[in-house]
Amino acid sequence: MSLAMVWQVCELPQSLRSYWNRKSIKMTVCVLGLGYIGLPLALLLADNGVKVLGFDVDAQKLARLENNLLTLKERGLEQLFASVQKKGTFSVVQTVPTAESYIIAVPTPQTDRHSDLSYIYKSLEFIHPHYQPGSLIVLESTVGPSDCESKIIPELRKWNVDFKFAHCPERAVPGNTLQEMTRNDRVIGGITRQDAKSAQRLYKKFVTGSISLTTPNQAATVKTMENTYRAVNIALANEFAKIATELHLDVWEAIALANHHPRVAIHRPSVGVGGHCIPVDPWFFVGESKQSQLIEAALLVNQQMPQFVADKVQLLIKQHKIKKPMIGLLGYTYKKNVDDTRETPVEHLIACLESAATILITDPYLTMIKGRKLESLDTLLSTVSIVILTTDHNEFSKILFKNYPNIKIVYDTQHLFTPKNFEGSSSYHYVLGKG
Ligand SMILES: NC(=O)c1ccc[n+]([C@@H]2O[C@H](COP(=O)([O-])OP(=O)(O)OC[C@H]3O[C@@H](n4cnc5c(N)ncnc54)[C@H](O)[C@@H]3O)[C@@H](O)[C@H]2O)c1
Repeated sequence: MSLAMVWQVCELPQSLRSYWNRKSIKMTVCVLGLGYIGLPLALLLADNGVKVLGFDVDAQKLARLENNLLTLKERGLEQLFASVQKKGTFSVVQTVPTAESYIIAVPTPQTDRHSDLSYIYKSLEFIHPHYQPGSLIVLESTVGPSDCESKIIPELRKWNVDFKFAHCPERAVPGNTLQEMTRNDRVIGGITRQDAKSAQRLYKKFVTGSISLTTPNQAATVKTMENTYRAVNIALANEFAKIATELHLDVWEAIALANHHPRVAIHRPSVGVGGHCIPVDPWFFVGESKQSQLIEAALLVNQQMPQFVADKVQLLIKQHKIKKPMIGLLGYTYKKNVDDTRETPVEHLIACLESAATILITDPYLTMIKGRKLESLDTLLSTVSIVILTTDHNEFSKILFKNYPNIKIVYDTQHLFTPKNFEGSSSYHYVLGKG
């Protein structure tokens, strides 16, 4: 029997539904995984009348939070944390407690083209000894299209208790997490419609967008599709940039003009794709289905962008006869105006260039990466002969290159700089995708 059919026979009677509604008013929720997703989610729930207990395997993270120190930067998070502290509705716990609902927001990296579920299994191990029959488990972490029904739910069945399960994949984007968590529409997939509705009631505490209900695998498929759509479209823009370079055209002007067409919305090319989602999740389709061709090709196009940029810069170094090149990278995070470095393509760019040049890095959102201290913007600009703009943080748009006569080449992968940045400067300005 499909899950959709199971739903139709599993609707709870009205009396039980209203019992659950009353009970949910003073619901205790345990959030497992207090990272980029789990912490804002926990605080939003706590700010909206739910008693939230936050658990993480990272003892340092727990200690910081216990000492009222935030563990990540995110717009509006400090104010939200302060509000929740006043209400006293959020606390961290060293072990997973008994709760009415559990939300799992742990990592799901890609391993061998599948979602690595080991962090989720570990979370279930933590929950199991404290689980009361009928409590709700919500999976926020992104998983492959079939993972819920073929792997995760069977694990829960082994507990031999009555359980509720729903998958509510997260759609928020770093830098705007709180706004998006609150306002974005959500998709919730439950084993039964009742499970999905229980999760819907919980999310309605803070979500103002619409909440659509479906099955767990459908919810996971929607999430994977969304990130695949983005990855493929970015790959298309990147391929256009490579073609424009070869044909001596300007990809940025061409994209801007093409986007005047009412049914065209071409994305932006860049040094590659980063973050926990777009370079990772589309692989789940590739891993699970033999029908996928376009998706893998797109992922490879994106993965090759750091090498493409490195080759262009090395060619320019030769053309300009620069001896002992020193390259300054502007930006290390994978995205503008955030401190998130996960899967950053800049790391690959460094690997492609470090045998040929000395590399300095600056990023206004970071002081260290992997034990390496980053330069201040001014020190970097005063030292290097070549600059590669890798992340279009707002801070970089104000650079005046006339103040740094040592800089011979500026390679701009984000089409950020304008002639104003180069007034009175003799630096050569090259742009990715401008042949
Ligand atoms: N960051 C995003 O923009 C984003 C957006 C949408 C979806 N997601 C998905 O949300 C999930 C979480 O992502 P994130 O960005 O918050 O990751 P993260 O790495 O920032 O946070 C995960 C947290 O889980 C903790 N953890 C690991 N194993 C644990 C366990 N067994 N029990 C308790 N805690 C554990 C880690 O210590 C860490 O603090 C992933 O599946 C990701 O794909 C992330």
